[in-house]
Amino acid sequence: MIKNIKTLQWLGDTDGCLRLIDQRKLPTECVCIDCQMTEDLFSAIKTLAVRGAPAIGVAAAYGICLAAKQIQNNTALSNAVELINKQADYLASSRPTAVNLFWATDRMKSCAVKFVAGNPKTTVKHLKNALLAEAQKIEAEDIEMCRQIGTNGEPLIPGSGAILTHCNAGALATAGMGTALAPLFEAHRIGKRLEVYVDETRPLLQGARLTAWELMQAGIDATLICDNMAGELMRQGKIGAVIVGADRIAANGDTANKIGTYSLSVLAKAHSVPFYIAAPSSTFDLKISAGSEIPIEQRNGDEVRGFGGMQAAPAEIAVYNPAFDITPAQNISAIITEKGIIKPVGRQTITAILTQT
Ligand code: MRU
Repeated sequence: MIKNIKTLQWLGDTDGCLRLIDQRKLPTECVCIDCQMTEDLFSAIKTLAVRGAPAIGVAAAYGICLAAKQIQNNTALSNAVELINKQADYLASSRPTAVNLFWATDRMKSCAVKFVAGNPKTTVKHLKNALLAEAQKIEAEDIEMCRQIGTNGEPLIPGSGAILTHCNAGALATAGMGTALAPLFEAHRIGKRLEVYVDETRPLLQGARLTAWELMQAGIDATLICDNMAGELMRQGKIGAVIVGADRIAANGDTANKIGTYSLSVLAKAHSVPFYIAAPSSTFDLKISAGSEIPIEQRNGDEVRGFGGMQAAPAEIAVYNPAFDITPAQNISAIITEKGIIKPVGRQTITAILTQT
């Protein structure tokens, strides 16, 4: 896990700002940006300066504190709540797939409504304090969920055979130690021998740029591969398990994650390799019955035509660029959550684990 580096950090009191590691610049530069206004955060989420479902959720929670900061202390409370709702909806429109974004903005909206309803004589200043406390709570919960996913997932890390991961579901994608990478960090911490293959994850190279960097910082033996090399490694018997994160999990266990995850799950099934999803309860969307209902973000074709300003294809070539795909529940061996392991993956087992206290 990256030491002394915070993916996101609220600086100051209710008039503070949100500091983010600018993930667009990694691994060649590790620099931060400070978001002072909701517009700054909207753009940071949209352009992937902050990314990964849990990190987007925590950042959006603090985004509501940025919205509150703009409200004059003499504003009527009803107007303040209306403004917060509007800004929450604005932030929620930045990306469509990761449910943590909507989970966090809904929770902040309901915090504002409940606080005002429960304290009718309150002030805008107190409302701002309540919102900051709620965002800090969301961040603390995310850190704890990651830690627990690490503890619950570590026993699934096989003693032999390498682990394959896709995209980045590490500390950079959360407020804590990550989701898919958390069991690896925990296994490493207790001295388990580990070998990890990292899919580069075209088009935006979250695996090559972020996961490779994180694993190297942690001193874990990591090897980078192009996405199309995973099948050959499995054919050679080198992969003991695949472990990835999630952006949204439907009630039946169908899972949206970075484009390429579905193909990996098919390969894993064909080679009898266990395929694990690691995700906190905030990534489940039980209102959605199956994966086909999950909205998939379509991104700009230029991300596929080249990378980092380098053109790699004819400028006018048509491009298909979905950011995520859906892995059907039947391809998933287990889902590792902070509440326990969901296995087999299905409606009943999901409800049983998620509703336990
Ligand atoms: O487009 P991104 O980089 O936000 O996509 C991120 C992923 O797909 C991650 O695997 C997922 O959000 C889980 S992060 C713990």
